[in-house]
Amino acid sequence: MEDSLLKLKNTNSKTAFNYGYLLGKMFPYIKKVLGRAVILFLLAIPLGLLDGVVAFALRPYMDFVVNGNETQVYEFQGHTIYLQAFFIKFIPYAIVCFALIQGLLKYLCNYLSDWTGNTMSNALKMDLFKKLTAMDTKFYDLNSSGIVLSRFLSDPDQASKKLIETLKTFILSAFELVALVVVLLVNSWKLAVIGVGVMALAITPVTIIRKKIKSVSNATMVVGGNMTTNFNETFAGNKIITAYNLQDNQNNKFAKQIKQQFNLTISLTKRVGWMSPIMYFVCSIGIAIVMNYGNSLILSGEMTAGSFASFVTSLLLLYKPTKTLGLTLTNIQGTFVAMSRVFELFDLMPEIKNRKDAIELKSVGKIEFNNVNFEYEKGIPVLKNFNLDVMPNETIALVGNSGGGKSTVVNLIPRFYDVVSGSIKINGIDIRDYDIRSLRNSISFVFQDNYLFSGTIRENILMGKPNATEDEVKNAIRLAHLEDFLGTLPDGIDTVVGERGASLSGGQRQRVAIARALIKNAPIVILDEATSALDNESEAIVQKALDNLIQNRTVFVIAHRLSTIHNANRIAVLNEGELVELGSHSELIAKDGGRYRHLYEMQFGSVKV
Ligand SMILES: Nc1ncnc2c1ncn2[C@@H]1O[C@H](COP(=O)(O)OP(=O)(O)OP(=O)(O)O)[C@@H](O)[C@H]1O
Ligand SMILES: [Mg+2]
Repeated sequence: MEDSLLKLKNTNSKTAFNYGYLLGKMFPYIKKVLGRAVILFLLAIPLGLLDGVVAFALRPYMDFVVNGNETQVYEFQGHTIYLQAFFIKFIPYAIVCFALIQGLLKYLCNYLSDWTGNTMSNALKMDLFKKLTAMDTKFYDLNSSGIVLSRFLSDPDQASKKLIETLKTFILSAFELVALVVVLLVNSWKLAVIGVGVMALAITPVTIIRKKIKSVSNATMVVGGNMTTNFNETFAGNKIITAYNLQDNQNNKFAKQIKQQFNLTISLTKRVGWMSPIMYFVCSIGIAIVMNYGNSLILSGEMTAGSFASFVTSLLLLYKPTKTLGLTLTNIQGTFVAMSRVFELFDLMPEIKNRKDAIELKSVGKIEFNNVNFEYEKGIPVLKNFNLDVMPNETIALVGNSGGGKSTVVNLIPRFYDVVSGSIKINGIDIRDYDIRSLRNSISFVFQDNYLFSGTIRENILMGKPNATEDEVKNAIRLAHLEDFLGTLPDGIDTVVGERGASLSGGQRQRVAIARALIKNAPIVILDEATSALDNESEAIVQKALDNLIQNRTVFVIAHRLSTIHNANRIAVLNEGELVELGSHSELIAKDGGRYRHLYEMQFGSVKV
């Protein structure tokens, strides 16, 4: 098996620069919101121009109102307009109008960018989640929950919301910049050359540090993923942590991660933090030069005071869009990194999938293992030339040393993993030729530690058959010997069990799992150490429930306690991945020096045939 196809990498510099590829991948999501996104970007243009309008308006205000007098007039189609009076009357209305337009544009832009960003992000998240549930067992073996979670918690947002936000900001700032530069040029092209020149000088450092920000952001992501894993493990392993006093261990691990994160943040601040002060400094020099030169232009009459005020205001306002434009370049880079991480997950392919012409598995006959070889990791064989035929409605027990491969054998039947060589056949047809859903629909699994989902007991049972009738539920409860227990609960079957079924005892959880398997009514039943976590008393009642479950079905039962497998039709003994003995209890126990007899003697001291 090739791990690299299923294992998520921590950083993705490789595809992060492949803009065309990423945008192509992103296109279906962009298409969903294209109309509104275009409106958003169009609205960002006038919003960007508004700052320029303010700066431009300062000029007539200064020249005609502050510095002007009543005699300044403007002849318009035979009318004489007194400029001072006109502006004094006009300005209050203009301010209100301006605020109204600006407010409306801002509101529309915010609405549209939230709408488009969230729509895209949700579509991405939905597809990511589908991808996650479609992945096979090996994917979950290879990737830690933290790494996977981090792909969900921030990457889709970064790849979509931030993309829209950044594009909007880019357009807005670009037009703001253009408008302000126009105002500068209109007022004095000579001063404008100086001002813009200095500004250009001031933003060069932004482009230099972009790369640094990217690498740190990737590293921060990795640390964040490890932290999430740590959180999850603290939850899932809380009993072990308490029992072994591992709190300090966990704390130290977390402290290390926090420290790493801190160092990354600080290293970024150290390298990037000087940028803003330097930009201010360079700009202040620019403004000083402009002031100095501007003064002489005013004194020589080449420029009016209003023109100069308008110019300086534009120059000061120019700082913000210039800096923002620099940052949008960094942000765009960030969204591409996020996209590359999202699409890395998309590009992972489950190894186990349906053949094109897969056939439906309808009824289950003979199950055959033919020369099955299997390994989890390349070069470490776990099953070696395993052969076994199981007849319909036969109960076959798998016994043997720990690590011998018993769980592996049964995990191959629902195709949690695929064989490396050889084949498993049902009704003489390779299980890889069957539709996977129909194959898995034919199998009920009860494990040693059964996962119950947060929700009610009823919901957990119904997972075996979502459309089951009330009678079917009742029947499953009765056969699983759950009636008495549910009778003691105030909410009965509608009692909410905690996450992972934490509020139930081991035996109770086991019987809920058996009810789930019973209601599924599948022809193949697999019991992997289904009773080994229980004491003798609860084992007795769970055993009764299991006896109901396995009637008239093909059953694979794995148990360490050999007393539970007496009744199996045949017993298969596995040792280090090889089938070493096969036969009924009485046949195997009669074999002098036999493996099964040895195991039996170890458990019970002497043989009772
Ligand atoms: N997901 C996995 N990835 C890698 N190796 C695995 C994985 N699961 C099991 N193994 C290895 O495969 C071998 C067989 O494991 P398996 O779980 O089938 O044994 P088992 O007979 O069920 O043991 P036990 O009685 O302890 O449950 C072991 O050496 C184990 O370490
Ligand atoms: Mg096992």
